[in-house]
Amino acid sequence: MGRNSSKKGNLKSLLKKHTQDNKKKQGLQKKQENIENLQKQKKNKITGNKNNTGEQQHNLLTVPFETPEDIVLLIGEGDFSYTRCLIESNYHTKPRNIIATSYDNSLKELNLKYPTTFKENYDFLISQGVKIMLGVDATNLVKSLKVSKRTGIAKILNVEKIDCIIFNFPHTGAGIKDMDRNVQQHQNLLENFAKSTKEVVGLFDAYINNKCTDSYSQSYMTVTNNNKTKSNNCRLAISLFKGLPYDNWQLKKIMNTNGWKTVTTFKFDWEKFKEYQHRRTNSEMSTTKKFDEREARVHLFDKFGVTTKVKEQKSAESDDE
Ligand SMILES: C[S@@+](CC[C@H](N)C(=O)[O-])C[C@H]1O[C@@H](n2cnc3c(N)ncnc32)[C@H](O)[C@@H]1O
Repeated sequence: MGRNSSKKGNLKSLLKKHTQDNKKKQGLQKKQENIENLQKQKKNKITGNKNNTGEQQHNLLTVPFETPEDIVLLIGEGDFSYTRCLIESNYHTKPRNIIATSYDNSLKELNLKYPTTFKENYDFLISQGVKIMLGVDATNLVKSLKVSKRTGIAKILNVEKIDCIIFNFPHTGAGIKDMDRNVQQHQNLLENFAKSTKEVVGLFDAYINNKCTDSYSQSYMTVTNNNKTKSNNCRLAISLFKGLPYDNWQLKKIMNTNGWKTVTTFKFDWEKFKEYQHRRTNSEMSTTKKFDEREARVHLFDKFGVTTKVKEQKSAESDDE
């Protein structure tokens, strides 16, 4: 009896060590993959446009997802013109793989906020088969999506995994008269968004691994599946304007300390998103300076990030930070 349980204990700790080694190995592999992808994509600086369709022409430096058929979850859409632009410009070619969400709770609210553009964008997206969800809170996705043990994340979103989550220009609507308050509010938004997206990715990982969630079973699966514990390697993209107050939000630091590592950042090139109307949180009214005259960047994160090797290369090669 005693010997049996100590044997079991040994096996358990062996399996645990094996899983840890494996995770480390997978992490290093993924980092290397990230490096190679970035190098490849920088070499082929081809813009996705109406004539380009294949994965080959897809350019990380224009959109944050990897292939035009990736499963993409958009958070905090305004009048949904960005989602529409992804499809119309052929950056994305499988609308059924797009889930576009808004923080606003109803179509009526969105029509009131964006009276000249929302309805047409919405009708277009519905006709293309895009899944649109309202009342989705970036800071508590699981709750606002009404995910429960019974319903499950995959069922609610109607997909098997998520490849990329995008939040363009997150903003609470708070002004900059009180800069400290502005910074605090947005840091809270970003921190909770990081945690909330981690939770979603975790749920998909569990789903992918056949809802096998206790650590002993996970270790067992790792060994028996020939070292292939599957995980949902999801990217997270956040666009922000440059300058104040945005620089003070310390986006990278917040994401990096909440489970998302930096892969790269790249210019948000308005020229390549002609149909996209960047919208303010509360109305169609534009800011004093036109949005497409303001410098903005897309910040891309994933579970693994890239090593310093890429950072060195980046500073030598391109406008990536
Ligand atoms: C400056 S607007 C940008 C809208 C849109 N992404 C665009 O680029 O046109 C900021 C957006 O963030 C959304 N937002 C603010 N807090 C949010 C939250 N907790 N969850 C989801 N979206 C949120 C607002 O509803 C608004 O649509």
